[in-house]
Amino acid sequence: MTPHRHHDRIVLVTGAANGIGASISKQYAQEGAKLALVDVNEAALVAHAKALEALGGQVAWSVVDVSNYVQCEKALSDLTASLGGTVDILINNAGISPKKNGEPAHFWEMDPEEWMHVVGVNLNGAFNWSRLVTPSMVHNRLGGIVNMSSVAAKFFVPFTGAHYGTTKAALIGFTRDLAAELGPYGITVNAIAPGRIKTPLMLTANQATNDAILAQTALRKFGEPEDVAEMACFLTSKESRFVTGQTVDVAGGWLMT
Ligand SMILES: NC(=O)c1ccc[n+]([C@@H]2O[C@H](COP(=O)([O-])OP(=O)(O)OC[C@H]3O[C@@H](n4cnc5c(N)ncnc54)[C@H](O)[C@@H]3O)[C@@H](O)[C@H]2O)c1
Repeated sequence: MTPHRHHDRIVLVTGAANGIGASISKQYAQEGAKLALVDVNEAALVAHAKALEALGGQVAWSVVDVSNYVQCEKALSDLTASLGGTVDILINNAGISPKKNGEPAHFWEMDPEEWMHVVGVNLNGAFNWSRLVTPSMVHNRLGGIVNMSSVAAKFFVPFTGAHYGTTKAALIGFTRDLAAELGPYGITVNAIAPGRIKTPLMLTANQATNDAILAQTALRKFGEPEDVAEMACFLTSKESRFVTGQTVDVAGGWLMT
């Protein structure tokens, strides 16, 4: 951790109530940022926001489904009014990976609603928030965006389903396009591709799957949410000011793309 590296920056994190998003928001709070937290899980969101406030951070939160543009637009206006400024850093972290009994649906049996739900949250959610916060970033000639992809974007992994791998791969293309469009305004856009990280989402896969991944992971352990949080903070810091359009694996040597 680098204390005060993000002092007074306004950082918006989606899917902030649990897992990686909770860890990312805590890390930014420890580095001096003001936090705008977004999630659909109200109980977990409020509990996490209050825990960050208890650490001395300035925190605003909003219960929002990231796939709903109108909800996001309303939330942005409330959050920025509450924090007294525009968003400097956006972390598009919210993501879902639906499974039944630890297994994804086969593509040929997949409910179209399930496909649309995953596209809505994992991909459209990133569009919605990026679309909403970038006009002020362009105006300020300042900003950083991190999109949460996955190693499943780069390799076929048999336990996530076609919707998950497709949306995570799309986020890598989205990252490059945004980096190209926003670079002239001093805004960096990067993605992180986590491997297996110890969060509630990881537990949606069965034990045999997780054991097999462990055996293929060079460091022979699963990642902690903090491992991803450190990378997000780095990718939006001045230490990484000449890095944009990239996707960085935080995977302990699993798949090594
Ligand atoms: N955990 C892993 O091993 C792993 C690996 C690769 C990529 N990822 C990615 O990292 C990100 C975070 O994953 P995690 O493991 O912390 O998951 P998680 O399930 O622990 O947390 C995800 C959070 O997103 C929220 N969320 C879900 N749908 C939402 C919506 N429509 N609107 C707003 N919030 C919503 C959930 O309520 C939850 O708080 C995801 O994008 C995931 O795909 C995770």
